[in-house]
Amino acid sequence: MILPNSVTCHADVNASRRRSSDGVSAIDPSAFREFEHQGWQDIASRYHGGFASVTIQSVPALLDAARVGKGTRVLDVACGPGYAAAAAAARGATAIGVDFSSEMVEEARGRYPEIEFQEGDAERLAFSNSSFDAIVLIFGMLHLARPEQALIEACRVLSPGGRLAFTVWDTPDKAVGFGIVLSAIQKHGDLNVGIPPGPPFFRFSDPAESKRVLAAAGFVNFAVVRVPQIWHLHSPETLFDVMYNGSVRNAALLRAQKPDALEAIRAEIRQMVAQRHHELAMPAVLASAEK
Ligand SMILES: C[S@@+](CC[C@H](N)C(=O)[O-])C[C@H]1O[C@@H](n2cnc3c(N)ncnc32)[C@H](O)[C@@H]1O
Repeated sequence: MILPNSVTCHADVNASRRRSSDGVSAIDPSAFREFEHQGWQDIASRYHGGFASVTIQSVPALLDAARVGKGTRVLDVACGPGYAAAAAAARGATAIGVDFSSEMVEEARGRYPEIEFQEGDAERLAFSNSSFDAIVLIFGMLHLARPEQALIEACRVLSPGGRLAFTVWDTPDKAVGFGIVLSAIQKHGDLNVGIPPGPPFFRFSDPAESKRVLAAAGFVNFAVVRVPQIWHLHSPETLFDVMYNGSVRNAALLRAQKPDALEAIRAEIRQMVAQRHHELAMPAVLASAEK
């Protein structure tokens, strides 16, 4: 599958960097951040009914990788509705959640009123050095304009010996919900529509890339594992509906298609999901490291 810059696999990371340095499709971090921010503000109330049923499946493995237990001071970065913060608190940890979307923060506060949630940017954390024993990012890294900067910030606010853990989606051949959607667009529509270019969506699906970026941010003792997850969809229509109404980059990609192409894409996605009895493998890649 040939992916555009906006959703490209790690195999294309260097190409994307070359394009950037050539200035052909350089990433404008401010424009991409604004695009993501507006997107999350718009879909915050729909997130729980869409991707959440699958993103929460890797939370126990993620908290184990970050060594979260009783008394651990945990920061859940890009917390969305706050699932990881809540799961950490259930283990006896002291958890705080941070998200740059005020709407997401409201969702989290409504869902878990006993936990502290703050509006804030992963790339500029409003905490002093060495404030936390563990930092977790569930499916947040792939939405950041400058993920390297977020890792540097995470390292700064972690205490020495503290652990960071993040999950991202596996590549679209394995996380087949994405594979189905991207293949359908490639077949019937156009993957290279004009949405603000961002860092490659599947960049951190590659363990070597995660380790490289973690090391550059100052982390040591890396571990990267794959975590099986299954998406039990309500019906063959659900995958299209969630991508169209409950995602940011993939929704923008779908919304930019011509009407005829979009109908063909919708039908193709429906058929591919029906063939799989609306149960899709959506594994996560879980990376962790120590300060
Ligand atoms: C896919 S959701 C993940 C939500 C939650 N962690 C989960 O696992 O379900 C991505 C979240 O990242 C947040 N986000 C994106 N960029 C961010 C940034 N620069 N700083 C803080 N949060 C950010 C979005 O608002 C959104 O809530």
